[in-house]
This record gives sequence, structure tokens and C-alpha cells, in this order.
Amino acid sequence: MGWIADEIIQQIRDRVDIVDLVGRTVSLRKAGRNYKGLCPFHDEKTPSFNVNPDRQSFYCFGCHEGGNAFMFLMKAENLTFPEAARSLARECGIEIPENRGGERGLSERLFEANDLAQARYRAALAAPGNPAAAYLAERGLDAATIARFEIGFAPDSWEFVAHALREQGIPAEVGERAGLLAARKTGGHYDRLRGRVVFPIRDVRGRVIGFGGRALGSEQEPKYLNTPESPIFRKREAFFGFPLALEAIRRLDRAVVVEGYFDLIALHRAGVEGVVATCGTALTAEHARNLRRRGRHVVLLFDGDEAGQRAVERSMELLLPTGLRVRAAALPAGEDPDTFLAAQGADALRALVEAAPPALDLIIHRAVARGCRTPWQKADAVASLAGLLRLVPSPVERAELCVEVGIAVGTEPRHVEAAVRASARGEDPGQAIASVPRRRDGLERVLEWLARCLLEYPELGGRIGRELFTSLAPASPIADLVAALIEAGEGGRVDVDALCERLADPSRSLLRALAAEDVRLERADAERTVDDTLASLRRRRDTESQRALTQQLRDPAADASSLLLEKDRRRLDAEDFNDRPPAGSPP
Ligand code: UTP
Ligand code: MN
Repeated sequence: MGWIADEIIQQIRDRVDIVDLVGRTVSLRKAGRNYKGLCPFHDEKTPSFNVNPDRQSFYCFGCHEGGNAFMFLMKAENLTFPEAARSLARECGIEIPENRGGERGLSERLFEANDLAQARYRAALAAPGNPAAAYLAERGLDAATIARFEIGFAPDSWEFVAHALREQGIPAEVGERAGLLAARKTGGHYDRLRGRVVFPIRDVRGRVIGFGGRALGSEQEPKYLNTPESPIFRKREAFFGFPLALEAIRRLDRAVVVEGYFDLIALHRAGVEGVVATCGTALTAEHARNLRRRGRHVVLLFDGDEAGQRAVERSMELLLPTGLRVRAAALPAGEDPDTFLAAQGADALRALVEAAPPALDLIIHRAVARGCRTPWQKADAVASLAGLLRLVPSPVERAELCVEVGIAVGTEPRHVEAAVRASARGEDPGQAIASVPRRRDGLERVLEWLARCLLEYPELGGRIGRELFTSLAPASPIADLVAALIEAGEGGRVDVDALCERLADPSRSLLRALAAEDVRLERADAERTVDDTLASLRRRRDTESQRALTQQLRDPAADASSLLLEKDRRRLDAEDFNDRPPAGSPP
């Protein structure tokens, strides 16, 4: 990275607005002549971070970080001075003469490859007679919408981008690192996205970090193919539509989060602002922090079916700890915002978002609706909510919610508080219950750990084998997922996107959720987990068959004895599986 002339630095300084720059990552509020917000450089609950537009400087009274726009960007994005200067220059359209000999960083080369691909995808969509334009028109997108989201088209060619890169002297290896190209085993490279509508995914500074590609036909698999993770594309924190939404998120102090590209576009078409979409992964804690830095509120739109509800609860586990206030709107079962817009119109969709009630209210109602008459039902309802309530950072809000739950369930708030405290200490808040989304038995938990191990070390599936596994594990969504992982792992690696495509929905969203987790497992621990799980499954089968045998001997009048056996079985399962996380796993 070369030296930059003083007059250029001066030009940049004159053109950059620090309020604008800081405001992209910090939710700022006007306070007198200054702006105030939560300091991005240290953890705080009350704003002590100040931006002064007159002096074009920032200062934090909490951690005493301070400086000008360059220093802010250097610190916030971990850049060197020339990198920060270049990035600011690019944004305000100031040309920095390249001085030769300076080696450019990998990221810059990846951005360059992406920019070129993006330009070509755009041109391909503009070319007359291409099938993508017809597809987009059919889905109701007009020219302005296509232009706003800079949608493009990847022609059905193995070499469309590969050729363009070669022409511009960008090495295929750079295209490969950017995820645009894949390497052939026999040498050479080919385009990853072919015959697809292409959505450019940009970071908050507007740089293209990756692409999402939608198949044109229903026979084309997978339906969505995204470019893979790369040094500049981190799906755990990326949002499609982010830079376009920033201003509105700041202004409205809320973001709307959806799962799909077309869902986001549907909301835009309905006039809803400040919408972002995850890029083929479940929401993560990084996404949550990314949103919290920009505003206080989030609205989730979800499919009103069982899976959608669970997805909201899972998202809440990540969003609540950041202090975000979350609202949620249920779409009719089987609908997404895109189909809802088509069926009900823009006003209905906008109203749905605007009237979205607090997500916790919805979750509380749902828990209560499962039944709250008997002591057991009440205990279960409270226990199922305690895990989420404990994540509410504000003690005042938490206490109010406990009162609400107490009233809804029909118990005293102090009992709810006790359950929440127990849950916070990691105890069973209701004796019967462990985790938030729903009850999972010991076997499910063990299989989830197995899935995590296989995701990280796919080759370990060979220690069990798909056939043996399916013969041992009772059928369930998590068992289906594990079986698929074992099979996929035979090739030594697991392509999560491709696998998602093959799995049906509870297993698919389970896979998404697991793949999005940030769990690091040591290989030795993973090996042990795989072996232990296999041993447990074998023991389980042996006790099962023994039980079946006993049952046969005692039948036909198996009333009282079967109760006894049921109790026995619970005990056996508990011994084998319950509360026995694998070695090396977090508690
Ligand atoms: P959906 O399968 O719900 O599709 O995927 P959709 O968004 O409604 O898409 P259309 O309307 O049929 O075109 C939701 C999101 O999940 C990711 C994509 O990001 C998609 O937008 N996804 C889905 C994948 O990454 N891969 C897939 O194969 C499918
Ligand atoms: Mn859709």
C-alpha cells in the first residue's frame, strides 16, 4: 500500500462527513450541536460516545478513544492509515493515482474481481432477449426495482466470468478466492453461478462481497446458490440490502429482517423501508450485534407454521441479549412476504409490519395456548419461557414480563421470577425442561452434538456409516440430518448449501442453525463424541430389544406392567443420554 500525497488527504478530509461515516455503524442521536451514541469501541449501556460535526471529530468519555474520520475508520475496521484513506477516497469519488510497486492486499483484489463480475452480470441482464429479464418481469419486478438492487444475470455458460477475468488480467485464483469460480480437478476454472438471476451482496460501505443466485427454472438445482464464504464475505454477519437500508434503519430506529432476496424486494415494493435479508444462513449473534449498532428495534416476519415459530424463538435467543427490542409478525402458514404481497397487496403487507406486536408477547401467548390449567401445564409453560426471559437484559423489562407471564399462566410473578433465575443459573427451571425452542429429549441433544462434530469433521461419519446409523437411531428430523451428514461426509467435505437443498424442513432449518453456530470442537473430542454416541445407540438398541422381548412374554394383559416398563425405559434413556454433553463441549 503506497504513500498518498498530502493534498489528496486534504481533499478527502474536506469531503468526508464524520457524522455520516460514524452513523453507518453507530446509531446516533442529536444532542445539542453534537451527536451521541453507544461507543463501538467499548461495551456500554448508556451513550458516552460523541461526534462533533463542526470539528469533524469523535470522542468517547468512557474509553477516551477519539480522533478524526480517518482514525475512526482505522479503529473501527482495523485498517492502516493508507487503507482507511483509500477507502474514504473511493467513497467520495477522489482518484488516488496508483504508485507502482505497492503490493495490493488480497481483499482489494477480491473486490476488484467482484466488481468486474457485477458489471458483467448487469450487462448480461440488460442484453436483449435474455431469459432472466422475463423471469423478473413475471415475478413482478419493474425496472426501477431491478436497478435499485442492481440485479444481474449470470448466463448459462461455464466461462462467462472466467473469461471476463482473464480478459482483464485478473488471475483465476483470485476469482476462485472470491467464490466466483470453482477449480476443476483436471486443472482450469469454471463459473460457479450459471443460468441464474444474480443479487449482489454488499457490505455497509457498499462494496460487493458476494452474490446470491436464483435458478430460473424449477428443474434447476439448487434453487439458490450463493458464492461461498471468502475473506471478504462472512455470511455470519452479511445482510443483503444492508447499505441501502442503513439510512432508514437509523431514521426509523428499526430494521426489518427477512430470510430471502425476493422477500426483501417484496417489502421494498410494498413501501417498507429499512429491510435486510440474511444470505442463506440462519441469523447469528454477529448479525444481531450488527443490527444493534444501528438501531433499537427489529421486526421479524415469519411463516405462521410451527417451523416459523421455532425460527423466531431461535432468533430471539440471539437478538435479546444485545438489548434489541424485537417485534414479530406472523404470515399465514405457508406464505412468505413475497407470496403475501402477491395475494394480499402492498397495504396489507405494510400493515402487517407496522402492527407487529412484541415477539415475546406472541411467544407467551403461544406457550399459554398449549394449555395452562393443571399445575404441570403451568410449570411447563413457565419453564418453556424462562430460558428466553432470562436473556432480557433490562431488569425492569424482565420483571414486567414476569408479571405478564404470571397473569397469563395463572401463577404468582415471583414463581416466574424464580424460574427465570434458575434458568439463568443453568438449572432446570421447571424440572422437565431444558432448552427454549421446545422440549428435546436426551437422544436429540446427543444427536445434535453428533451433527456438530460431523459438520466440522465430515470424515468422522465413516466411523459409524450411514446404514448402521439409520438402523440404530429412531427416525426424527435430527436423525435424518445426521444420516445425510454421514453420507455427504464420505467425500471428505460437506457443502451446507447443497445439503440444505436436499433436506426437508425441520432437518433443513436444523442444519442451517447448526451450521451458523460458532462452536469450535477439538478433533480428539469430536472423535470421542462420535464413538461414544455410537456406543450409546447400540446400548439403546439392546435395551429396546430386551424390552420388546419382555413385553412379548408378559402380554396380552400388559396394563400395569407396561407402565412399569415405561418408567424403566425413561430411566435407561436418562442414563444413556440425558445431560451428558460430549467431552469438550461448552456447558
Ligand atoms: P426459500 O426456499 O424460502 O425461498 O429460501 P424464497 O426466498 O421464497 O425464494 P423464491 O421466492 O422461491 O425465489 C429463503 C432463502 O434461503 C436461502 C436463500 O437466501 C433464500 O432467499 N436459500 C434457499 C439458499 O441459500 N439455498 C437454497 O437452496 C434455498
Ligand atoms: Mn418466495
